[in-house]
Amino acid sequence: MRVAIIGTGYVGLTTGVCLAFVGHSVSCLDSDCSKITALRRGEIPIYEPNLGDLLEGARPNLAFTDSYAEAIPGAEVVFIAVGTPPTPSGAPNLEFLSQAARCIGQYVNSDFTVVVNKSTVPIGSGNWVGSLLREAYEQRHEGASADFAVASNPEFLREGSALHDSLYPDRIVIGADESRALEVLYSLYRPILDQTFTAPTYLPRPESVSAIPLVSTDLASAELIKYAANAFLALKISFINEIGLLGERVGANISEVARGIGLDSRIGSRFLSAGIGWGGSCFGKDTAALIATAGEYGLSMPIVEAARKINSRQRDRVVEKLLQELKILKGRTIGLLGLAFKPNTDDLREAPAVEIAQKLIDRGVRVKVHDPIALHRFQREHGGMSVQACVNVCEMAEGCDALVLLTEWNEYRDLDWEALAGRMRVPFLLDGRHALDREKLARAGFRYVSIC
Ligand code: UGA
Repeated sequence: MRVAIIGTGYVGLTTGVCLAFVGHSVSCLDSDCSKITALRRGEIPIYEPNLGDLLEGARPNLAFTDSYAEAIPGAEVVFIAVGTPPTPSGAPNLEFLSQAARCIGQYVNSDFTVVVNKSTVPIGSGNWVGSLLREAYEQRHEGASADFAVASNPEFLREGSALHDSLYPDRIVIGADESRALEVLYSLYRPILDQTFTAPTYLPRPESVSAIPLVSTDLASAELIKYAANAFLALKISFINEIGLLGERVGANISEVARGIGLDSRIGSRFLSAGIGWGGSCFGKDTAALIATAGEYGLSMPIVEAARKINSRQRDRVVEKLLQELKILKGRTIGLLGLAFKPNTDDLREAPAVEIAQKLIDRGVRVKVHDPIALHRFQREHGGMSVQACVNVCEMAEGCDALVLLTEWNEYRDLDWEALAGRMRVPFLLDGRHALDREKLARAGFRYVSIC
């Protein structure tokens, strides 16, 4: 099928490359010409494992453009995957979405087209996008009515494992109020639903994956599914963090508690890692948007609000633990292991590390930072922060009163801890992710404390 994708961020680019890989003819559009030029050269503007390889594999079916006139006419399906950044009120900024809808409306031809919201958009946006499209089409075609339907196809990919989540998803959700739109999307996703494509060697199909469940529903339900899924995952993390605090007081081991409850299949073991809380561009934004939408209907969402409060408390607990240990923070030197909001990405949006670094600076701490992938991006995006960026962990450990693990990169698990202890003023490590081996660190001379 002929597909156009508006927006080449994490969601748009991954979707475009995966659909091209399974055999569709895909045109990826972005208004940022420098991104398009780079993509045409095969350069990926984001850090996402294997995305470059898959793009090369899919190249015969892929085009990159900054022109709506090129991408839209003739496309049977148009995905909108533009950014919807948060505004101070919690409601997302829909400026890019409305711009995209208007431009699509101007350029769709008279054949039936399905316009799909892939960006996470507030409930009701499907209707709103439909009215913008219709208006733009009618303006351009002197009152003639367009033949299109709006659908919602929420995205559940995680940064860092975006390709795996797109090719082997737990489920695909499609929502529309017109059955012919659902039929088009069903055909589009057929190769993934039936797993008929040849798996790339670097991303083999997991043995447990055969047919992928499809949830085919109405527009509003699909829109709500996305928010409910992210809010539930966020709740799970905040729940284990709340239990962790009590666990610490009663002397329980939170990793054991998480294992003990997670093995109950009604609860499930994933997203029960206690620590400094969630970061990234999704959970914070989507829980805020859900609360804002509920507010428009005169409803409150106390459970979701509590999850947000607990999450922000986890950042403060890092400072509290350091205070407990070091007594005085002013004038101390503290090294932060990891900046990205999680491993395998260079994304720093709402990264706990950035927030924690600022809290420590405000307390008069001299902060040193390291990240195997996100360091350069950090310097570009947070150049104004007074921290010392270190390209290796040894250099960072020099003269430190504490190291704090904030992103559980694999390579941090096997550091030469003895050598690091020797360079520090005090060999103390605060593990914000329950990721390191307490005994190994103790053997290397570290005092080890974790965040619960
Ligand atoms: C999240 C969802 O997991 C995806 O399903 C969804 O598609 C995406 O948002 C989105 O809405 O676009 P993502 O933000 O990429 O994906 O990252 P996650 O893997 O969910 O991690 C989010 C944060 O939670 C990270 O900071 C991670 O360190 C933290 N986390 C995760 C924990 O603190 N504990 C856990 O047990 C799991």
